[in-house]
Amino acid sequence: MTSRNPQERILIVDDEAEVRSILLRYLENEGADCVSSPDAMDALNKIRNQYFSLVISDVMMPGMSGMELLRLVKKQKPEMAFIMITGLMDIHTAVESLRIGAYDFITKPFELLAVRRAVDRALERRRLIIQNRYHQEKLERKVQERTFELNEALYDVEESYKITLEALVMALDAREHETSAHSQRVREYTLTLARNFGLTHEDLIQLGRGALLHDVGKIGVKDSILLKPDKLTETEWVEMRKHPQIGYEILQNIEFLSPAAEIVLCHQERWDGNGYPNGLTGRDIPLGARIFAVVDTLDAMTSDRPYRKALSFDVAMKEIRSGAGKQFDPRVAEAFLAIPKNAWLSIHASVNKNYQNQDCINFLCPTSNISR
Ligand SMILES: [Fe+2]
Repeated sequence: MTSRNPQERILIVDDEAEVRSILLRYLENEGADCVSSPDAMDALNKIRNQYFSLVISDVMMPGMSGMELLRLVKKQKPEMAFIMITGLMDIHTAVESLRIGAYDFITKPFELLAVRRAVDRALERRRLIIQNRYHQEKLERKVQERTFELNEALYDVEESYKITLEALVMALDAREHETSAHSQRVREYTLTLARNFGLTHEDLIQLGRGALLHDVGKIGVKDSILLKPDKLTETEWVEMRKHPQIGYEILQNIEFLSPAAEIVLCHQERWDGNGYPNGLTGRDIPLGARIFAVVDTLDAMTSDRPYRKALSFDVAMKEIRSGAGKQFDPRVAEAFLAIPKNAWLSIHASVNKNYQNQDCINFLCPTSNISR
């Protein structure tokens, strides 16, 4: 019998001394540790100061009723089992007590065997509830621990991604100064424009990386060509036009950058097929590269060049309008032109400010601005 468990303490609450005494003797005889109270107030005092696993209480008592006691016990000690003793005719009270949280009820006059069964059931149910809660809490702790470990691991991966991206951008920047600022601007422009095309979060991350690293292949172009202040000869252009392929080859074997390598390979392709390296046309060019091509033109035109000062955003936007259907995917150009000029100006200003402040960490973090 469950009530033989020495850890079970039972409080018997009844205003009739005889009932208290019968129950107390009987349950102690069954092995339970029992205490009794003549009224609900006394019971509450005892509950406040002592441990009980079960309360057996009469309903009708002078002062506070058993129902009121039940409500207070459920509020203060919800894990405590409660059995209500009701009059035979008072089925309504019995049902109500179950609704409030009693585990069981027994009707007066009771048989001691019925009391024992009710006590066993209540204690068993309480034990299962506590056990379930323990397992639940253990499981939640485990989930929390694993989530923490996973986040730590993801953080480490993100950090190593960041360091790899940083190394690649810095390597190019060491060859061609100001490349970092350009790469960062086109990344931000690309993500802003790409949000109009219903891309997934993962696609946006890859596109951002592709934009950031679009010219990484220039690492493989000779200084005499890359840094030449004058116009390139046709032979030099042949060399220069190899940079998307070189960039693709650098990135395709780095697992987390291989999807971005596609953008790098196609970033100089044109909608009309007159681009390089593969002369792809229309939708054969990956969407990310078509998006990138528009904002790359914006940034190229609105940046100082050795042979000219930066052009205005109005001039660049006009150029993009006239290039729709030729250099650019008309749908992408249209989406670009639908974004107010001030949005582009504000990205331009904020990226330049960060760059001047050497705030490299933010822009090199591949996911930081994706979801805004
Ligand atoms: Fe390029």
